[in-house]
Amino acid sequence: MASVFVPDLLRGQAALVTGGGSGIGAGIARALAAQGAQVALLGRRAEKLQEVAAAIVAAGGQARCYAVDVRHDDRVAEAVQDAASAFGRLDIVVNAAAGNFLAPAASLSANGFRAVVDIDLCGTFNVCRAALPHLRVRGGSIVNITAIQASVPTPLQCHAGAAKAGMAKLTRDLALEWASARIRVNAVAPGPIEHTEGMARLAPGEWAERMRARVPLGRYGSIHEVCEAVVFLCSPAAAFITGATLLVDGGTALLGAGPWLDLMAG
Ligand code: NAP
Ligand code: COA
Repeated sequence: MASVFVPDLLRGQAALVTGGGSGIGAGIARALAAQGAQVALLGRRAEKLQEVAAAIVAAGGQARCYAVDVRHDDRVAEAVQDAASAFGRLDIVVNAAAGNFLAPAASLSANGFRAVVDIDLCGTFNVCRAALPHLRVRGGSIVNITAIQASVPTPLQCHAGAAKAGMAKLTRDLALEWASARIRVNAVAPGPIEHTEGMARLAPGEWAERMRARVPLGRYGSIHEVCEAVVFLCSPAAAFITGATLLVDGGTALLGAGPWLDLMAG
């Protein structure tokens, strides 16, 4: 689907997108490239990254791939340095890498909780920290992909909720610390988004229809709609916006935990 933004909004800029090999992260990488940005894709599985990079190149863009786990801060730093050197700059960072699964807190292992917090929260810190020296050269924009679970109590997702809440707080803290370097730090908090691994895991099978029916706007969102929010936050239209979280959730957060409790009640 075409963007509502004028084309080439980000021409000449360079972006790095974690989780860029699939789902929402892949959509964001393609959207930034469609706006003229050179894009580095970072995730664990090289083949998924290469597929997205090939689509970007086929559409006339430029892309590089880094098969790196965001939990490994030294590897992250190498990848960010390499991308910034290859592109000659770094202007935009989008943290979309994440893990989630349904698990009751009572039976979730310490390692299960830690794995999700390490990927979402510590991974986001690793990437932001590595990007700082490059972003501060000209100023830049960081967008962290959180979730409405960051603020809405959600059963079976305490690990992801805690991780995303940490990302939301990190977004505001970095926005304040790095404002003087002209680096804006914002978050996009999607609600249920169609055709994603996230919703396949969180509302599987017949839960999907029941969840869809509970979204105030009456449907799941699209990956495209999340991408448009990210492009907006990276664009000059958002030049005075930092420390903000933009909900892209069809009003779902307005209902609090209701939809999730309904799913569990059957
Ligand atoms: P997804 O396709 O599974 O995206 C997650 C990405 O993160 C994958 O590309 C994965 O690639 C990468 N990743 C996971 N662990 C990683 C690690 N340790 N290091 C580097 N990369 C890692 O799922 P999605 O549903 O599109 O979710 C994308 C983002 O949107 C996530 O931040 C999610 O929390 C957020 N979100 C999604 C929804 C939704 O409705 N789907 C709603 C709210 C928020 P590899 O496995 O190859 O590493
Ligand atoms: N229920 C309960 N615990 C689970 C689980 C589940 N569905 N899936 C994984 N875990 C636990 C594992 O048992 C392990 O704990 P243990 O060592 O005490 O047994 C711990 O989580 C780590 O699992 P592991 O598979 O080694 O982690 P990983 O680092 O390879 O993968 C995950 C990270 C678990 C988050 C994995 O689901 C993943 O890679 N997700 C990325 C894609 C994704 O989640 N997309 C949706 C984004 S919204």
